[in-house]
Order: sequence, then C-alpha cells, then structure tokens
Amino acid sequence: MNTGNVILRMKGIKKSFGATDALKGVNLDIYANGVHAIVGSNGAGKSTLMKMLAGLYKPDEGTITFKDENITGLSPIETQRKGIQVVHQVLNIVPSLSVFENILLAMPPVKMGFLNWKPGIKQVEETLKLIKFPMDLKINAGQLSVSEQQFIILARAVINETKVLVLDEPTARLSLEETNKLFDIIKKMKEKGTTVIYISHRIEEIYAISDRISVFRDGLCVKTENTGQFKENDLVNSMLGKNIDVFFPKKEVNPGGELLRVKDLTYQDKVFGVDLHINQGEIVTLVGAVGCGQTEVVNCIYGIINADSGEIVLNGEKLKLNHAPKEAIKRGVALIPEDRASEGMIADYDIKNNITSINMGQIAKYQVISDSLESTLASKMVERLNVVPPDINYTMSALSGGNQQKVVVGKWMTESYKLYLMDEVTAGVDIGAKAEIYKIMGDIASSGSSILLSSGDIEEALGISDRIIVLFKGKIFKELIPRETSKDKLLTYIMGGTVNG
Ligand SMILES: Nc1ncnc2c1ncn2[C@@H]1O[C@H](COP(=O)(O)OP(=O)(O)OP(=O)(O)O)[C@@H](O)[C@H]1O
Ligand SMILES: [Mg+2]
Repeated sequence: MNTGNVILRMKGIKKSFGATDALKGVNLDIYANGVHAIVGSNGAGKSTLMKMLAGLYKPDEGTITFKDENITGLSPIETQRKGIQVVHQVLNIVPSLSVFENILLAMPPVKMGFLNWKPGIKQVEETLKLIKFPMDLKINAGQLSVSEQQFIILARAVINETKVLVLDEPTARLSLEETNKLFDIIKKMKEKGTTVIYISHRIEEIYAISDRISVFRDGLCVKTENTGQFKENDLVNSMLGKNIDVFFPKKEVNPGGELLRVKDLTYQDKVFGVDLHINQGEIVTLVGAVGCGQTEVVNCIYGIINADSGEIVLNGEKLKLNHAPKEAIKRGVALIPEDRASEGMIADYDIKNNITSINMGQIAKYQVISDSLESTLASKMVERLNVVPPDINYTMSALSGGNQQKVVVGKWMTESYKLYLMDEVTAGVDIGAKAEIYKIMGDIASSGSSILLSSGDIEEALGISDRIIVLFKGKIFKELIPRETSKDKLLTYIMGGTVNG
C-alpha cells in the first residue's frame, strides 16, 4: 500500500440537521489502492459523511477533494461519473427499472446522441459472471431481495471501473456465503486499483478486510491507524469511550419444561420436515446459508406465513398452522423481524409512538392513553439501549440505521412474552448496543422465557446460545452445543460439509 498517495481528502466537514450536529468537523484522508474501514457507534455520522461524498447532502462547511480536484457539492450523478460509487445502507436502486438498466444507470450507453443498449448487454453479462452473480437482466430490480439488489449495485461499480467504492454496512443484510463472495469482489477490485471505504459494526470483518481503520465518535473522526497496529481493545475503547465488561452475559440456566415443539414442519420448497423444541429459559439459534429456511421457520411459528403441514405446539397446546400473528401474540409470542424498514417500524412516527405501539395496555389509564405513562415507558427504553439522540419525539426515519434497530428491539422489551422470535436482531447495531441487547436476552432467559434466534453472525450464535441448530437447504443438518464446537466446525456445517474427528 502506498501510504503517501491520498486519493480522497475530507477536510473540516460539518453538517447539522436542525439541532443535531451530525458532523462536527471531520478530517479524513483516504489513501489510494487500499481498503479503509470506518467504525463507530450508531449515530456517529458515518453514513452522513458518505452521503456527502455521494453528493446527496452538501456539507455546511468543509471541502472534499478527489485526486486534487475540489468535488464538494457535486450532484450524485456527477460524483458517479468521477468514479465514486456509494452502496448506501438504504440501497439506491430504481425498482421499476430492470436489472440491466440499473447496472448501467450512471453511464447509459449513448452513441451519437441515441441510447444504444445492445453492446451493453454482453458487458453486463460478463460483469455479472465476474462477480459470480448470474442473473436475469430483464426482471425489475424491485422484485429482487435486498442482498441481490446490493450485488446489482456492485456490478454497477465494477462496470464503471469505479475509483472509490464505498460500502455502508454491506454485510448487515448478507448471508455468510454472500459475505465471502463480497470479500472476493473487494479483493479483486483492490487488485485492479479501486480504493474501498468499508463501514461495518462487525469488528472481525474489519480486521479481515482492511488496511487502515478510522474510528468515528460523536460526529468526529477520533483515530486512524494501520490495521496491523490497531489493537482490538483500543478500537472498542476509542469507539465507545469506555470498555465493555461482559460481551456475552448469557448465564447458565437450568431449562424448565418444554415451551415450544415444532414437528415435521414443511413450507413450500423452503422448509422440509423440521423438528425442533425449546425449553423454558433456553436460547436456541438457527443458523445456515442463504435460503436455508431459517426465516421461514420463524415466520411460520409467528403466523406471517402458513406452513403446509406439520405441528406447532406451544405450552402443550397446538397452534393452528394458519393462525394469524395476533393469535401468536395472544399466546405470548413476540417477533422482532429481519426487515425492520418494512415490518418492524413506522418510519413517520416518532420514537415514543414506535416503542409503545404494541403496548397500549401499559400506557392506558381508564381506557385512555396517558401521555406521561407513554413518555416514561419510552424514555426508559431509550436510556437502556442508549438511543442517539435520546429524544423520544425524534422521527424514526431521521435516526441512524442502528438506532432504528434499537427502537424496534426496544418496543418488544416493554412487556414480557413467553417466546421471543428474533431474526437478525443485532444487524447494524453498534458494539455497545449489541452488548446491551445480549444483556436483555440473558435477562429474558433468566426470567424463564425463551428465545428462538435466527442469526448470520457466527460469534453471536456461539456466544449467546444454549443450542445451535444448523439448517441446510430447508432441513436440520446438525444440532450443536456452543462450548462443544468451534467456529470452523460451525462454518463447515453451514456450508453443508462434514467435519472429521
Ligand atoms: N435526515 C436527517 N434528519 C435529521 N437527523 C439526521 C438525518 N440524517 C442523519 N441524522 C442524524 O445524524 C446523526 C448521524 O447519523 P448517521 O446516519 O450518519 O450515523 P451512522 O454513524 O451512520 O450510524 P449507524 O451505525 O447507526 O448507521 C444521527 O444522530 C442521526 O439521527
Ligand atoms: Mg449508518
């Protein structure tokens, strides 16, 4: 890595939204041909800075220089034409356009003033092959899953010979398999001279992929160091301004009686004859590669989708296979869904309304909603999960991604349920809030309630669970006790492989 070669310089960048100072004078140099990781707590300003680089926001103060040219305030399309491509937390895909058109979006193939798509087809096909993501070019991008949409944007970056590629928490919505694919693409692009800015809350990934690391805290870049020299302790310290004592506080519990039994569950071509059970006080985690059926199992239990056959028994009583989520909630089941943006929250409502939306009972007095009860309940949760800003009247859509997730988790924590279904519950959440969520999960289990977690985070699965169930192509492949297995073994099982010895 040539450390003398600054390709991108952000100097004195300030940005406020109303009373919130999101960026307070950020200075950041990015060297060419490397992977520069950015870490920092939820709300530290990482995405805001990248939106500024992408031309979506203008800084209130400060300059952005790209290859010695001042590019402050350029429009998104001008920025892309300069060779800067940002894969945002919320994807910049045009849902009504085809895969093909989305990939060529920034540089439509114009010949003598006319659009000429034909030569583009081969180029797009080759690019998709290169990133190992073959795909029908004609379908509308809106029909694709978020992870597929993300690879479309990556293809856009590859085809445009992007000079600087920014990935804002790309793996929060990827399976392990897809994460490996992404890392391969990053390595290939780096070899071809692309500079990558990589934002993630997964410390492990940061160390695996980056050459340098910058830490953001509270609207400032507080530390930058070469990855090899940056100790993990220091990193967490500079991120939070404090140490975390216990990351996985799961206490050993003596599981009580059986709470949930699922027998021979089958759903379309996604889940085939799954048998599992959970005892009171247990945390059981479903892991697996993409499309292995974990989300479907969880959704069948909750009633978002209906299993074709099998049995779901809760507390000794059968649940009808075609039950509605309302019935599940009544029987003491809560779901924290994977896709918070569409299922977990009401974006236009404030934090307070989101936290209390499922819990009217607790905030009503004589059948009337009590403002003060509502505020107290919401404030407690905001404090517990350290939501930034700690203002219960803040609109959800104005929160940073991780802070939205904290609120979504928080709303289910205001009342106690017997069974918590949690799908990728810590996706996009910073390390401090993760520790807090794990603590809450530990408390839930200690109180005798149970958790069925679905997770793509191996460390999390190994750290928090009593048992891990590996799904492969919709079937149970293996059941493991975390302390009796290793990370490598678990990864092998997830890929459907066998482990000797
Ligand atoms: N459009 C907006 N209106 C009001 N406040 C905003 C807006 N966009 C961002 N903010 C605020 O700016 C701050 C920085 O947000 P940003 O999204 O940059 O954080 P982040 O570091 O990317 O966090 P995360 O890890 O959760 O994604 C937060 O306090 C956020 O609430
Ligand atoms: Mg962000």
